[in-house]
Amino acid sequence: MIITSAKFIVSNTDVARCPSGDRAEYAFIGRSNVGKSSLINMLTDRKGLALTSATPGKTLLINHFLINDTWYLVDLPGYGYARRGRSEQERLRTLIGSYVLNRQQLTCLFVLIDARLTPQPIDREFIHFLGLEGVPFAMVFTKADKLSRTKLDTTLKAWDEALAEEWEELPRRFITSSLNRDGRDELLDYIDEINRSIH
Ligand code: GTP
Ligand code: MG
Repeated sequence: MIITSAKFIVSNTDVARCPSGDRAEYAFIGRSNVGKSSLINMLTDRKGLALTSATPGKTLLINHFLINDTWYLVDLPGYGYARRGRSEQERLRTLIGSYVLNRQQLTCLFVLIDARLTPQPIDREFIHFLGLEGVPFAMVFTKADKLSRTKLDTTLKAWDEALAEEWEELPRRFITSSLNRDGRDELLDYIDEINRSIH
């Protein structure tokens, strides 16, 4: 799929105020600093579209980007950044939860996982929650440029084992690097495939 246009539409603290209409949307979630905003910039080929930062806790709102005038990419705040303070963490948890559970237009949630880490409880718990709630999702391993193929395979194997405890069929997964654009075609083709199937 070719991205011909990518426009920032709106930032929100409230799911009820997200864009109306029935355009399909694809959202990016994961721990703070995992690379959600960077991935949106990589996919759209627009460097400053979503704001990124070397320090965690950059994205604090629900951000809608309209792609090719037909569907949305959504940048969400990260979960699990302890230094933010309890009440702010709670606010973000509620915001993420209400978006994921109530947003009808959410077509696929991409759960980003740092490819360098062994399966972390917070990510496993979040994926467990998606399973209970029946939220459609796929896994996206990020920062693949930062590790060797052998190390990556170790991560993937550990995740397969962890997921096999709960899931009969493993979720779709993508290996990405926002630095060298790995996984871009695969992710965009996947979105394209879904968009075609629902129209
Ligand atoms: P929050 O909005 O704070 O939740 O973070 P985020 O998940 O949006 O992460 P962001 O895209 O802001 O990236 C965090 C840091 O990781 C930045 O310093 C990025 O440059 C870096 N980063 C993101 N993706 C990659 C990647 O694929 N490779 C490398 N090497 N660095 C990356
Ligand atoms: Mg961000």
